[in-house]
This record gives sequence, C-alpha cells and structure tokens, in this order.
Amino acid sequence: MKGKNVLVTGGAGFIASHLIDRLVEKRAKVTVIDNLKDGKIENLEKSKNKMCFKKVDVRDYEGLQNIFKEKQIEIVFHFAANANVPYSVEDPKYDFETNALGTFNVLKSCMESDIEKIIYASSAAVYGEPEYTPIDENHPLNPISPYGASKLAGEKIGFAYYHTYGIPFVSMRIFNTYGPRQPRYVMSDFLKKLKNNPNKLEVLGTGEQIRDYCYVTDTVNAFMLATEKKNAIGEAFNIAGGKSISIKELAEEMVRILGLEGNTEIYYTGKSWKGDIIKLIADVSKITEMLEFKPKIGLREGISKLKDWFEKEVK
Ligand SMILES: NC(=O)c1ccc[n+]([C@@H]2O[C@H](COP(=O)([O-])OP(=O)(O)OC[C@H]3O[C@@H](n4cnc5c(N)ncnc54)[C@H](O)[C@@H]3O)[C@@H](O)[C@H]2O)c1
Repeated sequence: MKGKNVLVTGGAGFIASHLIDRLVEKRAKVTVIDNLKDGKIENLEKSKNKMCFKKVDVRDYEGLQNIFKEKQIEIVFHFAANANVPYSVEDPKYDFETNALGTFNVLKSCMESDIEKIIYASSAAVYGEPEYTPIDENHPLNPISPYGASKLAGEKIGFAYYHTYGIPFVSMRIFNTYGPRQPRYVMSDFLKKLKNNPNKLEVLGTGEQIRDYCYVTDTVNAFMLATEKKNAIGEAFNIAGGKSISIKELAEEMVRILGLEGNTEIYYTGKSWKGDIIKLIADVSKITEMLEFKPKIGLREGISKLKDWFEKEVK
C-alpha cells in the first residue's frame, strides 16, 4: 500500500472512514470523495492531515474523471452509496442514481485509467429473503428492496466489465457491520434510546430477526486482504462475523453491557420496516479459505468499544 494512489469514494461515511485511517497508517496516498449527504467531515478527523478530501458526487462523471486523472489513481475502494434501506423505499431515484449509475461512473472512470483493483462495498441485501441459511456466495440473488436491487446492479455491472474489459473488480458483500461513527441501524438506535431513557427499550419488529455482526475494524481487515490477494479479482465474498444472534438476544446483551440489567424493560413493536429481511446468516467459508480472513473482535468486546465511543463522542 505504501505510496499507492488510492481513491476512497463515500469516504466520509462510517465504514470507509475507518478504512481511510488504516490506509493512512500504511502510508498510502489517499484521496477521499464524498457528497456529504450522510457522511461527516468529523469522521475524517484522525487522518485529515494525511489525505486529500474533495467534495465530489459519484453521479457527476466529469468530476470523477478529473480526480482519476489528477491523482493518477491506482486502487479504488467504492463505498459511496445510499446505504439506508428505508430511505431507498422513500427515494428510489436517488438510491438508483447513486448506487447503480454512480457505480457505472466509477467503473467507467476505472476503464479510462490504469487501475490495479477496484473493491466494491456490496451488501447482503443482494441475496433478498434467504432460500437457505447460512447464505453462501452461490445463493440466488433476488433482492427485495430498492437498495438491494441498486447494490446488485452495481455489482453486476462490475462483474460484466471484469469479463468484458478486464476491469480488476472484487465485490465484498457486507452483512451487518457495526462500530464507532455508525449513523444508523440497530446498535446505535439502542444506544440512543437507552441514553434518553434507560428504563425502557423499544425494539422494532418481533426481536426474532437474526443478524451476523462484524466489528468495523474486522470489516476493514477483509477489505485490506482483498486488496493484497491476487486471487480476489473477479470474485464476490461475504463479510460477517460468522456468529449469528437474534435482535432479542442483542437487546439483552446491550442492556447487560450497559449495566442496566433488571432496570430496563425491553418491548417489541411487532412490526418491522419495508425491505427488512428476517434472517441474515452468512457462510464465511469462502473468505476464510481464499483470503484467510478471521474476525478478531467478538460481539461483547465490540459492543463495549462502541459503548465507550458513544459515551465519549455522542452528545
Ligand atoms: N454498514 C453496513 O453494515 C453495510 C452493510 C452492507 C453494505 N454496506 C455498504 O457499505 C458502504 C458504506 O456503508 P456505511 O454503512 O458506511 O454508510 P454511510 O452512509 O456511512 O456511507 C456512505 C457514504 O456515501 C456518501 N454518499 C452518498 N451518496 C453519495 C453520492 N451520490 N456521491 C458521493 N458520495 C455519496 C455518504 O455521504 C456517506 O458518507 C455502502 O456502499 C453500503 O451499501 C454497509
């Protein structure tokens, strides 16, 4: 990585900002773009003096082309997306234009440059409602939300360009990543609610939804391994912690870690949101075998780290 010209799209967002911290540590020459719709400049605080930030929207093809030329980009991490499933239901146009057409723009810019690798942040949402679990990479791809469909469109274009034009494309299908700087979803939702009222925790849905969590620095490790290993090109990999947990168990664990056991009443709304998938359990054999990926942070340790960050940083 040392001295490589790296582009991170969506870099002011949750996962990508952690990857940037790692790339900077490895002395890569990092350029970050984001339209700051959901991302925050504060997420880049740690690495701000060691990278270059430009406010560019991935829907703007010319803006992207200029960055690729000016910075002579060699490796691309493509994270820019609407990453919010309910928002994709509300505004499917923004979702499609960013996730599908934006990915096309990034890939087209890659075709015009001498790229070593492009690593795409895909999603477990591309699988849709599971036909079997654990879900391996050969599971049928039948997304049920506009978000799942637009992420799949981006991935499919990437693989088609790999086969047609030799674009060195890798797709990382992220299940549920959590950690500091995460702007949404269940963990930060629980922490916010418990901060406001430690006596009651409202959980959306029945609590029976199953998820497979991965701490953000482990997700970053998976992206780094995909960059280093030549055999990753042309492949899709699941990224998950490899241990599933129900939302009910997660709520109880969170309450325990916060020291609120016996004080907090947990109750369930019984109703989830449109596009929510009940059971997301990953088969991680492929990434374990091909990339030698092994998560280091267990769920309890990860939640404790998140809690410490939340208490310090979230006002
Ligand atoms: N967090 C997860 O568990 C998870 C799971 C599956 C997939 N992913 C994927 O990982 C990536 C990062 O997700 P995240 O959770 O860090 O979300 P995030 O919202 O924090 O990051 C996405 C970033 O993209 C930026 N962005 C949005 N539209 C843009 C546009 N048109 N042009 C330029 N930038 C734009 C946002 O401002 C934000 O900074 C996304 O591609 C998402 O689909 C995340």
